[in-house]
Amino acid sequence: MFTVERLGPQALGLLLDLQERIHAALPDGSVFQRSSADFLSYCLAEGGRCYAVRHRGETVAYRVVYFPRDREFNLAKDVPLPAEEYARVAHWDTIAVLPRWRGHRLSALMNARALSDLRETGIRHLFATSSPRNPHGVRSLIAAGFRPVRLVVKFGGNQRFLFYRPFPGGWEPAGDDAPDDAQDHTGGKLLPLSATGDLEAAFGSGWIGTDLHMGVANATNGTDGTAPRLRMRRRSLPFGT
Ligand SMILES: CC(C)(COP(=O)(O)OP(=O)(O)OC[C@H]1O[C@@H](n2cnc3c(N)ncnc32)[C@H](O)[C@@H]1OP(=O)(O)O)[C@@H](O)C(=O)NCCC(=O)NCCS
Repeated sequence: MFTVERLGPQALGLLLDLQERIHAALPDGSVFQRSSADFLSYCLAEGGRCYAVRHRGETVAYRVVYFPRDREFNLAKDVPLPAEEYARVAHWDTIAVLPRWRGHRLSALMNARALSDLRETGIRHLFATSSPRNPHGVRSLIAAGFRPVRLVVKFGGNQRFLFYRPFPGGWEPAGDDAPDDAQDHTGGKLLPLSATGDLEAAFGSGWIGTDLHMGVANATNGTDGTAPRLRMRRRSLPFGT
């Protein structure tokens, strides 16, 4: 039985410990940006929302939501969102599940709770980042209604997708049912997450990501030979020019 709880300031030590354990177990630590104690303290107090999943008394996962308000670190500055909207921005910051507990849809559980709680606030714009080398992170954000809209450089020179989700309404449906080939008949296209040059060019010419194809399991090499690919469609951001 998994239960989601909102955390208060007393949980700082718990989050610092969890993030170290999860980071140490990652094959590529550069995909997971660890937070400072100051940042987590702000989010645990009035500057955000933090959640944990408990299972038989153990904390097995957490999610951090951050309200940048007038602070320097605001992902909205990477897109033409008018500055008067910054007070209504939230970041879907870190999410992490202990390795032993992955595959139980705990990211979806925490995201659903966090989205539901935000309805009582004036938040209208959600931003997030994920490394193109982290397909599980990308997939979790897309499942929560986010769409990658840019490639940006963050966190000491690491490339990240920038994700956006209007709130509470979400993106208009994009017809994500096109066949699984490189350039489909509906005008969508599929690009490998590793093709960052092509992805950057596509974002720059009015495409956004709408769906992720992980590749099909294969007994020999783990996948069907296709790397995870992002389905893209021509869409405009719902603000700016
Ligand atoms: C992103 C993350 C939170 C998703 O975890 P989750 O909620 O347990 O994922 P799901 O339950 O939706 O898993 C879907 C599938 O992907 C698999 N999966 C999820 N994360 C995986 C990972 N990091 N490595 C390998 N497989 C993974 C699950 O086992 C599951 O497989 P199944 O469909 O065969 O059962 C988790 O991968 C994680 O903690 N990663 C490390 C931290 C991180 O990168 N966070 C994102 C950036 S802040």
